Amino acid sequence: MTTPRAQITKAVIPAAGLGTRFLPATKSTPKEMLPVVDKPAIQYVVEEAVSAGLSDVLMVTGRNKRPLEDHFDRNYELEQVLRDKGDEAKLSKVEESSALATMHYVRQGDPRGLGHAILCAAPHVGDEAFAVLLGDDLIDPRDPLLTRMTQVREQHGGSVIALMEVEPQNIHLYGCAAAQPTGEEDVVRVSDLVEKPSSDEAPSNLAIIGRYVLDPAVFDVLRKTEPGRGGEIQITDALQTLAAEPSLGGPVHGVVFRGRRYDTGDRGDYLRAIVRLACEREDLGPDFRDWLRSFVTEEM
Ligand code: G1P
Repeated sequence: MTTPRAQITKAVIPAAGLGTRFLPATKSTPKEMLPVVDKPAIQYVVEEAVSAGLSDVLMVTGRNKRPLEDHFDRNYELEQVLRDKGDEAKLSKVEESSALATMHYVRQGDPRGLGHAILCAAPHVGDEAFAVLLGDDLIDPRDPLLTRMTQVREQHGGSVIALMEVEPQNIHLYGCAAAQPTGEEDVVRVSDLVEKPSSDEAPSNLAIIGRYVLDPAVFDVLRKTEPGRGGEIQITDALQTLAAEPSLGGPVHGVVFRGRRYDTGDRGDYLRAIVRLACEREDLGPDFRDWLRSFVTEEM
């Protein structure tokens, strides 16, 4: 008999990075606030957490990240101006982001890596399983990856990571997992993890994409994890410890994602995300698609 596991309600979103790939846009604006069509990238990520049932969101931020807090807070002045004008459509857009979730913030202080950012969430998370969503990875709202991951945690316990097959020449950009099949087509058991291996050293072409459902045992492991790749404390290394020693906090499983994902931390992929999501929008899509079609045939 499997033990019933408590529902996961907390999401942690590390958002302390500098966003140097988007300079000068990110000189004084957090990279998470860059718009994807007309919504900041980070709002898609919070909406994804909420649609997986996680309504308690902790952002791990750093210096110059105050616009994130403002975005998820009320803006009474703007709301009043729009109300006076009777512009209900825009008013609801302004109110939407402040009503999404219960937001909490903690600052990372020293940028000592993703594992360290997650460790900053320990006092807030306590002794519960929780999800981590990386802001650079945008998962298409129609592909419910996180919901699937929480189901796998309910079934198997331990921790669950999101994996995606990538071209071997790109594996050095990701954490990489060696994994064995399970009875379920989209679920694998993870046996080994390496952070950003070269293509010769990579144990597979399964890349970790930025979604994790973690057992709280990961905090103790992170406290003992030495700095790894890039001199930073890596979540991949802590998960490797858990995968090698399941008695510490259960097994590590992977959900192999075959849906739509955009890396908004990469300029090319960021542009592709905007074009794709704009084409699919009911309000903007029809005109934009017509324009795009003629642009491609006439200009390229
Ligand atoms: C981080 C993780 C890496 C993971 C990636 C997914 O790397 O360390 O294991 O594959 O996110 O986006 P970063 O891209 O922050 O360097």
